[in-house]
Amino acid sequence: MNEKILVCVAWPYASGDRHLGHVAGAYLPPDIFARYQRLQGRKALMVSGSDTHGTPITVRAEQEGLTPRQVVDRYHSRFVQTFMDLGLSFDLFTETDTENHWAVTQDMFLSHLEKGYIYRDTTQQLYCTRCQRWLPDRYVEGTCPFCGYEDARGDQCDHCGHIYDAIELINPRCKNCGYSDIESRETEHFFLDLGKLNEPLLEWIQQDKEHWRPNVLNFTRAELESGELRGRPITRDIDWGVTIPVEGFEDKRIYVWYDAVIGYLSATKEWAKITGDPERWREWWQDPAVRIYNFIGKDNIPFHAIIWPGMLYAYGDLNLPYDVPANEYLNVEGKKFSTSRGLVIEVPDFLSRYDPDPLRYMLTINAPEGRDVNFTWEEFLRRNNEELVATWGNLANRVLTFTYKRFDQQVPEPGELGEADKAILAGAEAAFETVGQLIDSCKFKAALTEVMALAHEANRYLDEKAPWLQIKEDKEATATTMYVILRVVDSLKTLFTPFLPFSCQRLHEYLGYEGSIIGRIYIDTLQEETRSHLALRYDASELTGEWAPSQLPPGQALRQPAPLFKKLDESIVEEEIARMTGGA
Ligand code: MF3
Ligand code: ZN
Repeated sequence: MNEKILVCVAWPYASGDRHLGHVAGAYLPPDIFARYQRLQGRKALMVSGSDTHGTPITVRAEQEGLTPRQVVDRYHSRFVQTFMDLGLSFDLFTETDTENHWAVTQDMFLSHLEKGYIYRDTTQQLYCTRCQRWLPDRYVEGTCPFCGYEDARGDQCDHCGHIYDAIELINPRCKNCGYSDIESRETEHFFLDLGKLNEPLLEWIQQDKEHWRPNVLNFTRAELESGELRGRPITRDIDWGVTIPVEGFEDKRIYVWYDAVIGYLSATKEWAKITGDPERWREWWQDPAVRIYNFIGKDNIPFHAIIWPGMLYAYGDLNLPYDVPANEYLNVEGKKFSTSRGLVIEVPDFLSRYDPDPLRYMLTINAPEGRDVNFTWEEFLRRNNEELVATWGNLANRVLTFTYKRFDQQVPEPGELGEADKAILAGAEAAFETVGQLIDSCKFKAALTEVMALAHEANRYLDEKAPWLQIKEDKEATATTMYVILRVVDSLKTLFTPFLPFSCQRLHEYLGYEGSIIGRIYIDTLQEETRSHLALRYDASELTGEWAPSQLPPGQALRQPAPLFKKLDESIVEEEIARMTGGA
């Protein structure tokens, strides 16, 4: 079975550091998924990059007196480092301000235009006469035309998630000067004719979507069944973004959302070029057997479940998404993450004090799948100390230290297996099936809970056998116990690997194996004709792990073990809360 899976990850705006909500919502789940698929021996390609265009970048640049490119450079290089530190195994994490991405975007634009899916029209857009500028997207705020939320942005309402055009806002005001006596002026733009795409998309959503999460499917179905899709402007009066390949539009740019989603395709093409076979992108986009997954946060649903599939359909001969597993939100200490109110835990800051695996654990065991969840420092402390350290870490450490000391630093030779031995080994074996199926269906929280349950069982087995007492009476029986539990720990290592890659790699070494179970992530500089950019890359050829029960051979030499996780002091809870709210 040589299944191919394209793992597409939402492109973060290069305008601010990532916080824990982003990681739980959009970046960690695809990494777990891709790591698991690779261990299964399937071909998985994971791509994304920095979303470098549009008003999120220019607003930030103006606030800081920088050029948009300076803002992009700063955050893109921080994303690359942060994602490497988190262990996110992107085959390619690039950016959209590349020659390759511009070319792929302009090609799709021209193809849509030629096929009649893009049309040109004059339209009214908001203009601030005080600032003497156009007010696209985030330059304007007002009341949401759908839900009445008063601080809605010009392109999407943070409250109800609906997308619309700035001109539809009720009581719009200029974000820059606060002026609300805004004019609308005539301007010419290109529109994506979603009305034409409504019918084919409806047909598509009605076929084999049982595996979709209900929140995504219901939203998408309702929009498409309403039959109300209509043309949306996909160019802007702005000077930062991909240029429009049509004469007379030199002063305008392609709308960031139109170009960003094309990133999935352009990044696959860039990856293919890097591998030396530029045509290889076709293996992922034109073979109908490939399954494409789009991992996103819930605010991105309309773009990935309607607009992007529509764009792909209109272009023709490309695979549409197989699944769009969108997550709900992660709140912090009971409140919404909010950069403006200082209620935010940024990843670089978090990783300056804690290891990545406990974070990955916490954000998965309490994942925002299907409902909003709450991150509290109290729970982080408890789960780290009671679950990672006490249940899993101590199990591995007790077993390794004891064997290392009492059995000559090697895996003991077992005698005949008893009922309890067989039962725990069978449990470990069965877990590969159950956990695998859960990950395959994007139920990461349930999958990790299942692995943890096996770790609990392994602890019970060990406590019943009590090898530290057994050894005083019967060394041979103890050898069997240690052999059995080492194999279970070795299986747990594989089962935990998609979730906790760093500690599992260390455990792999303590168990005496050579090489990497997880593959290698590294930072690269990619050179194009006139530009160069940083990229994160992953070398899957170095991966030696396999999604299969342990075959640990008796006699294998162990390495000096050390604890996998650190116990945290209770005082961190108060410290961190104080730090978050500006008190430290
Ligand atoms: N930059 C967007 C955000 O942070 C996500 C873009 S996803 C893409 O919400 F597919 F369009 F790139
Ligand atoms: Zn709204």
